[in-house]
Amino acid sequence: MASLTIRKLDDAVKAYLRLRSAQHGRSVEEEVRVILQGLIEPTQIPPAPPHPSATDHATFNHGDMSSSPTAGARVTLIIGGGIAAYKSLDLIRRLKERHIRVRCVLTRAAEQFVTPLAASALSGERVYTDLFDPDSEFDAGHIRLARDCDLIVVAPATADLMAKMAQGHADDLASAILLAASRPTLLAPAMNPAMWSNAATRRNAAQLARDGIAMVGPNAGEMAEAGEAGVGRMAEPLEIAAAAERILRPAGPRPLAGKRMLITAGPTHEPIDPVRYIANRSSGKQGFAIAAAAQAAGAEVRLITGPVELADVSGVAVARVESARQMLEQVQAALPVDIAVFAAAVADWRVLNEGGQKLKKTVGALPKLELAENPDILATVAHLNEKRPALVIGFAAETEHLIENAKAKLKRKACDWIVANDVSPATGVMGGDRNTVHLVRRDGEDVTVESWPVMTKEQVATELVARIAKTVVAKPMEASA
Ligand code: C5P
Repeated sequence: MASLTIRKLDDAVKAYLRLRSAQHGRSVEEEVRVILQGLIEPTQIPPAPPHPSATDHATFNHGDMSSSPTAGARVTLIIGGGIAAYKSLDLIRRLKERHIRVRCVLTRAAEQFVTPLAASALSGERVYTDLFDPDSEFDAGHIRLARDCDLIVVAPATADLMAKMAQGHADDLASAILLAASRPTLLAPAMNPAMWSNAATRRNAAQLARDGIAMVGPNAGEMAEAGEAGVGRMAEPLEIAAAAERILRPAGPRPLAGKRMLITAGPTHEPIDPVRYIANRSSGKQGFAIAAAAQAAGAEVRLITGPVELADVSGVAVARVESARQMLEQVQAALPVDIAVFAAAVADWRVLNEGGQKLKKTVGALPKLELAENPDILATVAHLNEKRPALVIGFAAETEHLIENAKAKLKRKACDWIVANDVSPATGVMGGDRNTVHLVRRDGEDVTVESWPVMTKEQVATELVARIAKTVVAKPMEASA
């Protein structure tokens, strides 16, 4: 099919297109596309296939994503040159699931890791790579890309891109857009841990924070380079999409304003000796997502987490602990609160005869570990009299008889609600990004069960916080002591 080059059109036509596109806030290219599309009868245009994520949740109140608060928002996604760039292709899908329009810009280095074709196929939009591209620059394309959006996301944000931003360089399309930006900008840094901890990167990150640039991650974990680990992994696409959503969401009602909320998250590590410990597979993602959702709803949030590879949630006071006993100590120090959510997977047992030195492997003899039960943090808080939070919520991770066990736990632990989830290995819940939960609530003498469809952990958090807010509003709580 013959191609049409806008640059070669008559000057009068170009001037008309420029004016019309500016009036509609579109690029000239898009304006031409709209004009051409308008020539076709609407019935001839095949409807876009529904996105699976939109239909998955169609029966659930917040599931219809077309009514999502970010529907129709526009993101300019700058993909930097790093191995994490492959995850940015998934990020495009995650943003589009939320009905966000994504326009991609690839740096020259990014093209070594992902192709413009892949980014264009996933975003359904033209991909931009060149500052001196005559087709897009005849109407100052880099300025348009910087302004004709609601948010600029840089993922992966390499050490080099961050340095350029901090210094105000503009020698390629990505840095020129970032310098011309008048929209909020969110960075998802990704680099080798040595580069992240280097004094120059620390300075640049601090400068960018002062300049009002938001950041998600980096997380701790394994690097692409064999044998390398530390802080520097790019945040997961769902985390970045959730951070983008938080920025894009118009400041909504803050039903939990003035409420103090305590959340536990992650596993606990119970030492066997100075180098070994008992642990479990909890990632902390669900608890962190609840903290973010509660903070967005206006609550004053204290998050107490066991060892996890997740970055702090902005606006949330985070305390990091190792063992169950340390977690209990922090929880008690945080009281009184109005609402407490115990999402941590606390180890049931700790080692009584913890070795002061590394236990030696002796031929023919196994070390004898003496176990003691850990304090039950949830039950301790739920049984308090004076300082008991008005709403105490526990989690029940089960591999069988889910609802039955959750109901029994509700009674035994004296909490108000239990969020029950199936963590049998086939579900992929432990460490994964999605969750299928049942909300078991005490309602006077009765117990009600609400089963939710499979959702991302962020969506579970949003739903849970919405119900907490509803309860708080319906039944104003006694002021905390
Ligand atoms: O008894 P189980 O571990 O299944 O109970 C799970 C719930 O109890 C979760 O909400 C968890 O955070 C909480 N819990 C606790 N302290 C413990 C054990 C569990 O707070 N020692």
